[in-house]
Amino acid sequence: MLKEALEEFKKKTPKSQEIYKRALQVMPGGVSHNLRTWKLPSVGAYPIHIKAAEGCHIWDVDDNEYVDNWMGHMTAILGHNPEPVVKALREQLIMVGGTHWGIVNEKQVELAELVSRMVPSVEMVRFCSSGNEATMYAVRLARGYTGKKVVIKAFGGWHGYNPLLNWYHLKPFEEINESKGQVLDNAEYVRGVHFGNIENILDTIRKNKENLACVILEISMTKNREQDRKKITEYLGSVKEALKKHNALLILDEVITGFRLAQGGAQEYFGVNADLTTFGKILGGGMPIGAVGGREEILRLANVVDWQAGRKKKSDIVWIGGGTFSGNIMTMIAGIETLKILKKNKSIYDNLEKTGREIRSSFRKIFNEAGLPFEVLGIQSAFKPNLHSLSLKSRMEWVIRLLNKGVFGHRPEGYLSSVHNSKDVKKNVMAVYSIVEEMKNELKKID
Ligand SMILES: Cc1ncc(COP(=O)(O)O)c(C=O)c1O
Repeated sequence: MLKEALEEFKKKTPKSQEIYKRALQVMPGGVSHNLRTWKLPSVGAYPIHIKAAEGCHIWDVDDNEYVDNWMGHMTAILGHNPEPVVKALREQLIMVGGTHWGIVNEKQVELAELVSRMVPSVEMVRFCSSGNEATMYAVRLARGYTGKKVVIKAFGGWHGYNPLLNWYHLKPFEEINESKGQVLDNAEYVRGVHFGNIENILDTIRKNKENLACVILEISMTKNREQDRKKITEYLGSVKEALKKHNALLILDEVITGFRLAQGGAQEYFGVNADLTTFGKILGGGMPIGAVGGREEILRLANVVDWQAGRKKKSDIVWIGGGTFSGNIMTMIAGIETLKILKKNKSIYDNLEKTGREIRSSFRKIFNEAGLPFEVLGIQSAFKPNLHSLSLKSRMEWVIRLLNKGVFGHRPEGYLSSVHNSKDVKKNVMAVYSIVEEMKNELKKID
């Protein structure tokens, strides 16, 4: 019963409840990222507030400890506080000085060099401060390069709230307007497709070929399954080929998959080269970042020196990257240390794949033995029991029970890090095992 899970939750987290009450007075919904309510207030709960993190563990303000499956919103692939990153940041802060210079520095060059070495399709990079900016810049570059306007994206695909791409994100997709205050005219140049359906995307490309600038896709790590790898590889290959034929670009949004699925991200994992790639999350080593990278010929359109030197008109430049915090020194340093570790230790990726498979197969076993129809989604380091056949109330009960058992994994899904060990996996598995037992009557009610 939700009631008894909620009672236990409230008993364990009184300080979080107090803080959330304060948050609601000064922040809409009490959050700075809409995801972070986790829908908990809809059943009378509230998000827990965190005060510390180490490895793959976090502590809330009430001193409860959790195995962290969210890992800094998927940024912390090496765990919280990896020593080389912390050491380098401390050195910058204490020995060197300055948290943000706002002036070019060698570290930004070093990070750009590392990115282009690890992701072969990336010859040049422009840093910014969020994935949302990066995807917006990528679309502008694609339109500038091709001289065309139409963008194809997947229904449900998330690339941030920027007005070029905040379309066809939330269901129902037929209802075009995604946000009050957003100018609907932008949607005129955006087409939605069903990810994975080759016919659908090839047809949409064909129908829009005269005015098609790009296709932008993210490869969801929690909507796909291990066995989909070949299908996705073929899908991306066909899309790339069709785009080439029609002089349009493939943008891979690798804000999540970049440096996570492989050193070279989804492109390496699925064997495709993007024309433009957007990054975020892991690239910042735990600090805020975004970046757009790709073929030199395309990125050079953003070279403002051509305008400054009087070689080009302002309208011949693709104006991107005006962020105050772009190339922030702390971010560059944390990113460099993180990528260096990932580049040197390919085994991290093998282990993530192995641990991901282990946790998914353990969940499958639990569901099979209990006679429950839930599918376990996820590729490589991601896992997600698909509970969509349940009511919102039951899904929230599941999540609250997870929290009560010391597992932080909302929606409920998880992204493993290199420091999740067998004990952490076991804690996840035992939590799901117990929840299935505790909720068996409600779970059996679904058709
Ligand atoms: C695939 C994808 N693209 C873009 C973004 C937006 O990035 P940011 O939150 O850094 O603005 C996200 C964020 O989660 C994402 O998952």
